[in-house]
Amino acid sequence: MTKHEKRVVFTAEEIGRQVRLLANQISEDYEGKEVVLIGVLKGAFIFLADLVRQLTIPVQLDFIRVASYGSGTESSGKIRITTDVELDLKGLDVLIVEDIVDSGLTTAFLKEHLASKKPRSVKICTLLDKRERRAVSITLEYVGLQLDKGFVVGYGLDCNEANRQLPGIYELNS
Ligand code: IMP
Repeated sequence: MTKHEKRVVFTAEEIGRQVRLLANQISEDYEGKEVVLIGVLKGAFIFLADLVRQLTIPVQLDFIRVASYGSGTESSGKIRITTDVELDLKGLDVLIVEDIVDSGLTTAFLKEHLASKKPRSVKICTLLDKRERRAVSITLEYVGLQLDKGFVVGYGLDCNEANRQLPGIYELNS
């Protein structure tokens, strides 16, 4: 494999199947409630769009944007919110929709930040759970796919802004 080659990790069909299963579970768990889905930009945009169209419960949508990885495949370790949610979350059931949880630092930070807005509940839904570099203990209520290691792109995930548009998920040869 040369520097620019990619190995398929999850096909579009596999992802689609998992997204449907997640949507069924979320619809069942939140039945009779309204959930506020908060997409973490930019990586979760495709996952959120696919997930929301499979839900059978009423939803509200908002987005949050954080800067966690400076560039490339290594975490900068610093997390800051660059765009905050606009909805008033007080008393609402919030579900954070993430593309991937790696060290867990971003998700833990976001959960604490959103919890400070006094919602009724805050849970986490991530398409990918990559546990190799997990640095904090964090409960992920909804996980689509497990990944042992590697840096992946596609289905919203990027490497230096490239490859977000790919329908499947691929491992980069770095
Ligand atoms: P964490 O704070 O280490 O859990 O990192 C979370 C963020 O890092 C994700 O929301 C992604 O933006 C980015 N990230 C972590 N692993 C990957 C990967 O394999 N591909 C693309 N982005 C990744």
